[in-house]
Amino acid sequence: MLDWSEPKADPAAATTAPLLSPTAADATGLGEIDRGGGRVQVDDKRMINARADVNQLLPLKYRWAWEKYLAGCNNHWMPTEVSMQADIALWKSREGLTEDERRMIKRNLGFFAASESLVANNIVLAIYRHLTNPECRQYLLRQAFEEAVHTHTFQYIVESLGLDEGELFNMYREVPSITDKAAWALKHTRNLDDADFRTGTPAADRDFLRDLVAFYVVFEGMWFYTGFAQILSLGRRNKMVGIAEQYQYILRDESLHLNFGIDVINQIRNENPGLWTRAFQDEVRAMIAEAAQLEAAYGRDTMPRGFLGLNAALCEQYMHFIANRRCAQLGLAPVFAEAENPFPWMSEAMDLKKEKNFFETRVIEYQNGGSLAWD
Ligand SMILES: [Fe+2]
Ligand SMILES: [Fe+2]
Repeated sequence: MLDWSEPKADPAAATTAPLLSPTAADATGLGEIDRGGGRVQVDDKRMINARADVNQLLPLKYRWAWEKYLAGCNNHWMPTEVSMQADIALWKSREGLTEDERRMIKRNLGFFAASESLVANNIVLAIYRHLTNPECRQYLLRQAFEEAVHTHTFQYIVESLGLDEGELFNMYREVPSITDKAAWALKHTRNLDDADFRTGTPAADRDFLRDLVAFYVVFEGMWFYTGFAQILSLGRRNKMVGIAEQYQYILRDESLHLNFGIDVINQIRNENPGLWTRAFQDEVRAMIAEAAQLEAAYGRDTMPRGFLGLNAALCEQYMHFIANRRCAQLGLAPVFAEAENPFPWMSEAMDLKKEKNFFETRVIEYQNGGSLAWD
């Protein structure tokens, strides 16, 4: 849930401690310790360009960020806990999968294998430095670990099925429809990774927002969703059920990542309304529309003929539906004509508690919050 409530302004604090543009060291939290500084007041905390000490988690200002951190911890899982026996047997059998299905699976895995690293790098090398709020950083640290677990998943799948690791992990460079997506997002993170990049001007703050849109809304919030739909669709037909189960856990993680990103963007927008001009809104909508087109090309490339319940046209329709949803979450007008969700079962796949036997594989209840036993 978004927390739009602004803390009550303290007039005394406003007169004695005017908002100053923070230095780079203030933003990272690695500067000289201010021995005579006052204690952090909740009003001093800001998403970007904060002057409050970023090393002090409490007092919390953005409870939604802390709650997402707790939810991420409660969802802990490891790929090696999922049995791959059925997948190995199917992959090695001659008749179990069609050539079209094999092509889709390999390209899907190839897309995800490198993408998880791109997303992790963006968090650690670009976002973290410039997001000047400790409770959001706490979530980023948890998210960074989850991206490591996701990369681990693809290593585990490659190893289990005996896939060509070079082929899979190089697809983001060698398959044009995958390269186009990675390159589109990378230009935004490269900009922030520049050692001279600082937020604090409208132009730089908008660069930061563009990176958040590119990675949280587009990469994790749009492109990953087609990838989930492809594999979960196979799982529904009892094929590659181990990978499908792992994708369910990844999907649960990614839906939290996406919603965190949406909350971050909306909170920055709320605190800096001057950034969110009509022209910038149109730019964000154009980014989302362009991302949907890149995804349509990827869909045609991974599924040139399509198969039961899944084809490139349905995936393109799904992307239009998802793109409009992301726009709505950001308070933007839709970019496509109203599109029906062609994969309504995706929302069931997201709810692991209700669908524990979804793929009839070994069942693990991964919600482990509050289950510590000390005896
Ligand atoms: Fe991930
Ligand atoms: Fe993610």
